[in-house]
Amino acid sequence: MIRKAMINDIENIWKLHEDFRLDVSMVNDNDYLAKSQGNGFIVSDSTKEEIKKRIEGSLLFNVWEEDGKIVGLIDVNKEIYFPEEADNIIWLDKDLKSEYFHGNEGITLHYVAVDENYRGKGIATSLYKNSLETLKGKGYKHLFSIVTIAPVTNCPSIIWHTKMDFKRACVTMPIDLFGLKDYMSLLFYRPIL
Ligand SMILES: CC(C)(COP(=O)(O)OP(=O)(O)OC[C@H]1O[C@@H](n2cnc3c(N)ncnc32)[C@H](O)[C@@H]1OP(=O)(O)O)[C@@H](O)C(=O)NCCC(=O)NCCS
Repeated sequence: MIRKAMINDIENIWKLHEDFRLDVSMVNDNDYLAKSQGNGFIVSDSTKEEIKKRIEGSLLFNVWEEDGKIVGLIDVNKEIYFPEEADNIIWLDKDLKSEYFHGNEGITLHYVAVDENYRGKGIATSLYKNSLETLKGKGYKHLFSIVTIAPVTNCPSIIWHTKMDFKRACVTMPIDLFGLKDYMSLLFYRPIL
């Protein structure tokens, strides 16, 4: 069942968040690297307080509940992740660059994540499709989403975004970020139809 996240879900949501979070101190361990690239992860330095603020403040923060337990979440918000004039970002589509920085009809999928024991059942897809309907209803036309590609590549996320009809909008060149050396990301895009 999909429902809106509530503030008293915080402990459950925080636990999921910690389960998905990449341990940046482990990225030189090949076993850890292989596991993370296969399972997916989020790169985040958010505190519990910041997640609470996201639950209350994001444009959309929904959870998937099964047998009274939260096993998936999706967070969509108006966010810009990079400076417009950064010279280490390669835009593949200049119109999308303009839309990303200046458009009023664009929005960002901050993250979608599902408990490891519940993957492969279409939960992320359901959360996402349900969100698209809400976003469409609110007048949004463009959806962006950022995926880490180095020094650890989020393989399931790249495949999942491709399956959900996203295409590549820009790629960021190596920069030290989130405690990671040579962090790189892909910004995905799809129209909200
Ligand atoms: C990516 C993630 C959200 C997918 O959740 P899910 O509920 O298992 O995904 P779905 O069941 O809706 O999958 C839909 C499609 O995505 C693709 N996909 C999902 N997980 C995949 C994986 N591990 N490997 C390859 N393809 C995958 C498949 O094409 C799948 O379709 P199929 O089942 O018909 O083959 C999940 O792996 C996850 O939570 N990872 C950790 C957090 C993360 O990386 N989030 C994305 C960053 S924002």
